[in-house]
Amino acid sequence: MQVAIMGFGTVGSGVAELILKNKNSITSRSGQKSFDIKYILDIRDFSSHQLANLFTKDFNDILNDKDVDVVVETMGGLEPAFEYVSKSLEAGKSVVTSNKELVAAKGYELLELAKKNNVNFLFEASVGGGIPIIRPINQCLAANETDEVAGILNGTTNFILTKMIDEGMDFDEALKLAQANGYAERDPSADILGHDAARKICILASLCFQKHVYPNEVQTEGITNITKEDVDYAKAWGGVIKLIGRAKKLESGKISATVGPCLIKNGCQLASVTDVFNAILVRGDAVGDVVFYGKGAGKFPTASAVVADVIDCAKHLEKRKLLGWGPAENDYVITPDEQSSSLYIRAAVADYNKTLNEINATFDGAQILNYEGASQTEISFITPLMNEKDAREKIAKLNLETKNILRVLDY
Ligand code: HSE
Repeated sequence: MQVAIMGFGTVGSGVAELILKNKNSITSRSGQKSFDIKYILDIRDFSSHQLANLFTKDFNDILNDKDVDVVVETMGGLEPAFEYVSKSLEAGKSVVTSNKELVAAKGYELLELAKKNNVNFLFEASVGGGIPIIRPINQCLAANETDEVAGILNGTTNFILTKMIDEGMDFDEALKLAQANGYAERDPSADILGHDAARKICILASLCFQKHVYPNEVQTEGITNITKEDVDYAKAWGGVIKLIGRAKKLESGKISATVGPCLIKNGCQLASVTDVFNAILVRGDAVGDVVFYGKGAGKFPTASAVVADVIDCAKHLEKRKLLGWGPAENDYVITPDEQSSSLYIRAAVADYNKTLNEINATFDGAQILNYEGASQTEISFITPLMNEKDAREKIAKLNLETKNILRVLDY
């Protein structure tokens, strides 16, 4: 069996190294007589690399070679990844990708193209890096109706929040450390603004609920607004702040899909996920809660998932695996306004006691938060569980100088 790798960055080079390192066991597990890398596509110069003879700069070498059975796409970005993946599928080659941007934006189209051409399009590495999650949802949990899928889907932001929680760093200091450790990119916006997690929750929601969900349908908020005060109020409440991607099925059959920093109680399994680790909770109607935990990024964890998909393609060269979902539907993803939430609010106050009375008069059962050393020029509280639009209207009527509003999750 012959494999082509498109994109020799961190993940692509990890894929090549892993295939070479574990060649014997991979070949035997694939059920094939051989398991070889025939091409590596990259526009950069690798003429001194030990695999120099495999490199090409021309995608047509891969496309026109009938011996290439499986194409690995680890280039990232939408173009030319979408063009190359589409053409590969049309040419009867199976494709494996780690590219969450591609799957979130074009997953439905590419899965349909794979179906039409009787080949496989697999993307285990696109969510949670090395953590098995796509295959477990598609196979092991297939007997369940999924009620909810939620998780810590971004390692960089989890590292930043962990430093803020455990070491009292502020956001800027923690971001600099994440960059120094090579977790955050020099332009970290996709991570810290929540876009990376939004792409991943789109893929999970599409798979769990069987209709394509696009990133622009996910209400997305990053962690740039989180301060040490928020972290301390969350601690006083008995929890932590985590960036959570969440998709939940509603009684109406619609879903809500959000990414944002949330308060979660310390007892919750997601609360103990620290540093760059990821965890994904799937709530099934038969199985209950199942949590998948591990390294959500990095060269070899991600390559582990990619190569396993290539092995799966090798096992299914003649027979397509059933994996997919239907097209997107208008008004299927509700605005967060329509969902029920409990909200955390931190606001500046001129007269603490007066505001306290107003909050108690407005929200029956509001929980006022306090910690030793908290400034009396601020107030923080948690609303009862209620329609989010109603809660936000009530907060607006309080006429507070709001510093932060976060959801409180009930895991
Ligand atoms: N930037 C991503 C993260 C990489 O920090 O989780 C994996 O998608």
